[in-house]
Formats: sequence, structure tokens, C-alpha cells
Amino acid sequence: MIKIAPSILSADFAHLADEIKRVTDAGAEYIHIDVMDGTYVPNITLGSPVVKCLRKTSKAVFDVHLMTEHPETQIEAFAEAGADIITFHAEAAKHAHRVLQQIHAAGCKAGVALNPGTPLVMLEELLGDMDMALIMTVNPGFGGQKFIASMLEKIHILYHTIEDNEFTCDIEVDGGINPETSKLVREAGANVLVAGSAIYDAPDIAEAVRAIRGDGTGHHC
Ligand code: DX5
Ligand code: ZN
Repeated sequence: MIKIAPSILSADFAHLADEIKRVTDAGAEYIHIDVMDGTYVPNITLGSPVVKCLRKTSKAVFDVHLMTEHPETQIEAFAEAGADIITFHAEAAKHAHRVLQQIHAAGCKAGVALNPGTPLVMLEELLGDMDMALIMTVNPGFGGQKFIASMLEKIHILYHTIEDNEFTCDIEVDGGINPETSKLVREAGANVLVAGSAIYDAPDIAEAVRAIRGDGTGHHC
């Protein structure tokens, strides 16, 4: 089943609770929360105290994407703040498997993200213990960038690796997702679709969520 995860990076930060309500009213299942530390990526966005306040305003699944160095220092704070899924970058973790264990021990689902330049082999020993793989379809740090089409093959190979091994691991994509690119990533096997600018900048948010979800069909090849 396809899940839509609007990224609040493109929302109005002065009205985050309302901005979350707008997209959940439009049918989005997840809220994608981009945490940037100013080191792993240049910008700084928000931390666990903000998530804690937002948690009181929404029942949506909070999908926290840590774009931070030392992700192991953030897990318990985000779990206690009300995160449902915590995803960290494989490139940022010295002990990725331990961070997965830490996320599960904190009561959350665990994801691992890969930058466009990072090969799938980084996930090989982790996939059986992951709930979600996040394939970045832009280089992280900014909303509104262009989708990198060469990531489709990566998604496709990952989909088959998960199927062949009978793992239960969602495939999330993040960056440059709009109604056109969403069709391509769904056909390649992605089932959790992050979209920031294509949802929050749309004249009709409900229509944008519907268009990105597409006809509900998934993997084609
Ligand atoms: C990029 C973030 C994304 C970003 C996507 O570093 O991880 O979640 O908000 O924005 P769009 O959908 O506009 O590419
Ligand atoms: Zn993200």
C-alpha cells in the first residue's frame, strides 16, 4: 500500500500544527520531519522539543528523517517526543546496526537512508532488521531539487532484494517527487513517497496528494 509523507520542510514554520492538519485532512498518512543539524547538511531545521509540541496536535505517523552526524545521540529524545519512525543516514553512523537496535529499543520503527552516491551494499547486513529503507532521490539538505533519475534502478534492485529474501521493509523515496516522478518510483517498487514542494506549493493540496498517490498500483517490472 502506498503511503504519502508530506515533508514539512516546505511548510510555513510559523504555523506548523495547521500545516500538518492541512495535509492529513488531504489524506496523507505520514508526516515527514526533516531534522538537519547544520553539519551533516548545511541547514538547521528543528529538534525534538518541536516534535514533542506537534505530537499533541496530530495523530499522523511521524516519520523523522535525521540528517545529522552522530544519530545515536538523538534517538531517545525523538522517541520520547513522539516519533513513530526514525531514519538515520548510513553515511553518518559508525555503528549502524547498533543504532537500529537502539531505535527498536526506544519503541520506534527504524529506517536507514542512503544518499544518491552511496551504494545499496551499505544496507546488505542491515536489511533484515530494518523497517524502512530511504533512498534519497536528491542530495539531502534542501527542498525543491530535481529528481535524480538514475536512482530508479537502485530502487528496483532494492525491491527485488527485499522480495527475494522475504524481508518486511518499506521503500521510501525522498526528493523531487511530484505526480510524474511518483509514477516512476512506484513502478520501481517504492511504497512510501515523501513530497515537500509538490504538496505544500500546490494550489490544491488534496489534489496533489491524490496525484502523487496515483492509481494505487505499485511495482510493475
Ligand atoms: C531533502 C529532504 C526532503 C525535502 C524534499 O534533504 O530530506 O525531505 O523536503 O523536498 P522536495 O519534495 O521539494 O524535493
Ligand atoms: Zn527528508
